[in-house]
Amino acid sequence: MSLWWRLVRFGFRLLYNEMAWTYDWVSWVVSLGHWRRWQRASIPHLQVARGDNVLELAHGTANLQIDLLRAGVAVVGLDVSPFMGRMARRKLVSSGNIFRLVRANAMSLPFPSESFKAVVSTFPTEFIIHPDTLREVFRVLKPGGRFVFIPNGMLTLANPVAWFLEWLYRITGQRGPWPDDPLQAFKRAGFHAEMLVEELSGSRVWISVAEKER
Ligand SMILES: C[S@@+](CC[C@H](N)C(=O)[O-])C[C@H]1O[C@@H](n2cnc3c(N)ncnc32)[C@H](O)[C@@H]1O
Repeated sequence: MSLWWRLVRFGFRLLYNEMAWTYDWVSWVVSLGHWRRWQRASIPHLQVARGDNVLELAHGTANLQIDLLRAGVAVVGLDVSPFMGRMARRKLVSSGNIFRLVRANAMSLPFPSESFKAVVSTFPTEFIIHPDTLREVFRVLKPGGRFVFIPNGMLTLANPVAWFLEWLYRITGQRGPWPDDPLQAFKRAGFHAEMLVEELSGSRVWISVAEKER
């Protein structure tokens, strides 16, 4: 692997760990404030009601978890990073919600089979299409449950800052193809899957919706 890609990987590792305290700021800047809209675009596709159990994989700084808790959904957040775990806990405590955080690897989920009505993950890394993760997501979902993941968001604003950011996404590998086609990976894992593209004001978001048959 070239020095550039090693540096990029190292930068992301830092961002999800020791530098996690900068994550909300960084995600706001690189999306010109659209990050939260892109995360929230997942919610209607979960098709859950108040009281339903939802698992969020790779919760990061827990912003989506707080949205879901406010909507009355019983969400469990899981992330492998203890640094993200601490950030999330602090934010959840000050939000005043009752919450549940788990530190674990998404490739081995510490939950019984058929525990969740839906699983959601926004801007996860490549672990999300690993066969072990997909096998685990399929296992913990109830029949008819949905797995919604947001792989990408893109600014559609015609201004030099948005163009510069798009260039930044490209040179850091955020626009390159995934190591495997996500839809094919989901289908191999037993899901019915489709990729939706939603146009928002000033940006576009990709939403992958996979369903476990009843
Ligand atoms: C780009 S951040 C996304 C955070 C948040 N979901 C968001 O929308 O901003 C990627 C997250 O994936 C987590 N992560 C990476 N590998 C993981 C794995 N194997 N299992 C669980 N979480 C993982 C990282 O710790 C980090 O919090």
